[in-house]
Amino acid sequence: MDWLQIALRILHIGSGVLWVGGAALFFFYIEPTLNKLGPNAEPFVDELVNKRKMPMYFAAVATITVIGGVLMYWRDSNGLSGSWVTSPTGLAFGLGGLCALVAWFMGIAVLTPAVQKVGALGAEMKAAGGPPSAELMGRMHAAQERVRMIGAVDLVLVLLAVLGMAIARYLV
Ligand code: HEM
Repeated sequence: MDWLQIALRILHIGSGVLWVGGAALFFFYIEPTLNKLGPNAEPFVDELVNKRKMPMYFAAVATITVIGGVLMYWRDSNGLSGSWVTSPTGLAFGLGGLCALVAWFMGIAVLTPAVQKVGALGAEMKAAGGPPSAELMGRMHAAQERVRMIGAVDLVLVLLAVLGMAIARYLV
């Protein structure tokens, strides 16, 4: 019995589920709610991002998924040698994995700072007191639009990864 492979699969698939499910929940429910609430979302964003550290959740589950996937890809391809890499199955795991790798990088390098910017602008609005100026509202809308756009690209990429993972083994 290949216990290492079993452990890698549990980590990889378990964290992948938590990653993709979380990304969908964020894109379809959390982000639109923040958008709708505008300045009133500030305490929620502060709690979610700064206190409960939502970006850490995504960084952790995405990184475990990627590490598990890369290790299994290495093992399945016998250290990238042999014909598995260019077989339909290898290509589907590889291309799906590549989509997930780009999503992982974007999530940490681009999406997290964009969400933090929305939180910072919310704090700025609160500190200013009274109704926010048109200029501040404009910056908030731009920051929220950026989160929405990057979130959409990220979600499409992880869904493409799921598609590749789901069909790879049956492309024979
Ligand atoms: C959104 C991210 C990902 C999700 C949700 C995901 C999900 C899955 C699932 C459900 C399987 C089981 C498929 C099966 O056994 O037929 C699997 C297997 C696999 N995944 Fe991923 N994956 C993701 C990212 C990655 C990445 C980044 C790589 C790296 C190249 C990768 C490489 C692999 C490999 C090689 C297998 C086959 C493992 C084996 O031989 O048992 N995956 N993945």
